[in-house]
Amino acid sequence: MKLFLDTASVAEIRTMWETGILDGVTTNPTLVAKEGRRFEEVLREICALGVPSVSAEVVATTAEAMVGEGRHLRGLHPAIYVKVPMTPAGLRATKVLAAEGTRVNMTLVFSATQALLAAKVGATYVSPFIGRLDDQSQVGMDLIRDIVQIYRNYRFATQVLVASIRHPIHVLEAAKIGADIATMPYGVMEKLAQHPLTDLGLARFLKDWEKVPKA
Ligand code: E4P
Repeated sequence: MKLFLDTASVAEIRTMWETGILDGVTTNPTLVAKEGRRFEEVLREICALGVPSVSAEVVATTAEAMVGEGRHLRGLHPAIYVKVPMTPAGLRATKVLAAEGTRVNMTLVFSATQALLAAKVGATYVSPFIGRLDDQSQVGMDLIRDIVQIYRNYRFATQVLVASIRHPIHVLEAAKIGADIATMPYGVMEKLAQHPLTDLGLARFLKDWEKVPKA
């Protein structure tokens, strides 16, 4: 399973990139706005780290304008995946961009039928937002199960990128289902490595090591 960071913070991405566990980055307009920096400058810095998959979202709302914006973003760096919203215009734009070889990440997906359409128009990634479904008293992980099954049934090549992850259990469940990718905030990725028994165990080993004669 690939692990992506859902952030536009270059500092967070650099730190995680150096650990060797990071496979990609997803951004969205909200995350970019938090940084207070120019979008393309941020994208260039992320790509310069060597991150192989960096999702950058279009903000146009017509298919024609999405295609234009998508082409521009794709041209910034070979690692860029163009994020397109799941709307009728987004579907049309994805069909055109995918046919040209642009890798599209269809975002704002909240149902299995939307995911089916994303695969049919050739999206490389589909991004179902599970945390936002949980917030509406709908079990987000059920959607991941449905999408994975549908894609397997028809051998779609579109990869399931589980988004809007809020905690490590989301990552664990998505991995058990067999989702291709999980994108998460920095804090969640940090927690994947942590366990209090690891910290306690290490503290005890180091304390006991002091008792070992050194000479
Ligand atoms: C994914 O690509 C989105 O940027 C993200 O996961 C949305 O998460 P949120 O619901 O926490 O804003």
